[in-house]
Amino acid sequence: MIKKAILPVAGLGTRFLPASKSIPKEMVTVVDRPAIEYVVREAVEAGIEQIILVTHSSKAAIENYFDRNFELETTLEQKKKFGLLSEIKDIVPAHVSIVSVRQPQPLGLGHAVLCAKSIVGQDDFAVLLPDVLVKAASNQHDLAQMIQRYQQSQAAQIMVEAVPDHLVDQYGIVEVAQIPDEGESELMQGIIEKPAVGTAPSNLSVVGRYILPAKIMQLLEQTPKGAGNEIQLTDAIAMLQQTDPVEAYRMSGQTFDCGSKLGYLKAVLHYGIEHPKLGRDFQKLIHAVEVKNWSMS
Ligand code: G1P
Repeated sequence: MIKKAILPVAGLGTRFLPASKSIPKEMVTVVDRPAIEYVVREAVEAGIEQIILVTHSSKAAIENYFDRNFELETTLEQKKKFGLLSEIKDIVPAHVSIVSVRQPQPLGLGHAVLCAKSIVGQDDFAVLLPDVLVKAASNQHDLAQMIQRYQQSQAAQIMVEAVPDHLVDQYGIVEVAQIPDEGESELMQGIIEKPAVGTAPSNLSVVGRYILPAKIMQLLEQTPKGAGNEIQLTDAIAMLQQTDPVEAYRMSGQTFDCGSKLGYLKAVLHYGIEHPKLGRDFQKLIHAVEVKNWSMS
C-alpha cells in the first residue's frame, strides 16, 4: 500500500515574486486556505497517511500551518468560536502525520526527493509537486486511481496530461506507443525533461504526481546533473524504465499551475466558484464584473 507522500516545498518560488518574497509560495491563499492545503488534501483523499515535506529554512510557515496552535485554539475556545476552532484543528485528520526534512542546497527536484530517503525507507511512495493543484473530475480521483493501478501492475505511475506543442519545453514529456484514454495507463517507452519544441516524443506532459518504488532512491543517488544543471527526477525515472515497467497515467481531472500567476488566478476563480459557502456570492460577483456593475449591495 502507498501510505507515504513526498512534497518538495524547498523551491524559492521565483516565478511567483514579489508575492513569494517573504512568504512561501505554497502559503499563498487560494480562496480561504493556502495552496499547499489542497495538495495535502488530495494526498489524504487518496489514502496517504504520512506527508513528508522537503523544505527550506525560510519556509517554517508551512510546518506551522499544519501544526497545532495552542494559543489560538485557547482564544477561540474562550470566545466560543467553535466552528473556527474545529476548522483550524482539523486541517489534517488525526491519522495523518506531517514530518519534514531539509533540502540544504537547491540541487533540483531529484535531489529534493532523495533528501527524504531515510524517512521513506523500504516503502514505495507518492510524490506530489505543490505548484500544481489537481481537481478531480466528479468522483474519479486521479491520484487514488494511480495508486490502485500501481497495486495491480507494480509499474511506477507518472501522471500526464496533453499540452499544446509549443509548451513542451516547460515540462517532462513521455514517450508512449499509444496515447492512453483519460483515466488509463500505458507502458512508457521514454521520458525526457524539457525537450526543445519540435523534438518532443509526444505532447503528454508530466503533471507532477508520481507513484514510485523505493528503489528509485538508489537511482537518484547515481543520477548526474541534467537539464538546468539540476538533478532531475525525470532522469532517474528514465533509468528505472530501463529495468522496470513504468506507466504514464493520463489524468481525467483538471490542473491549475499555481506556480504561474495566470494559473493561480484560474485556480482562485475555479475554487472560489465551487466553494461551499462563498461560491454563490462569488458567482454573482463575477457576473457583476462582467456587466461592469460594481454596486454589489
Ligand atoms: C518539474 C518536473 C517536470 C514536470 C513539472 C510539472 O519541473 O521536473 O518534469 O513536468 O515539474 O510542473 P519544474 O516545473 O519544477 O521545472
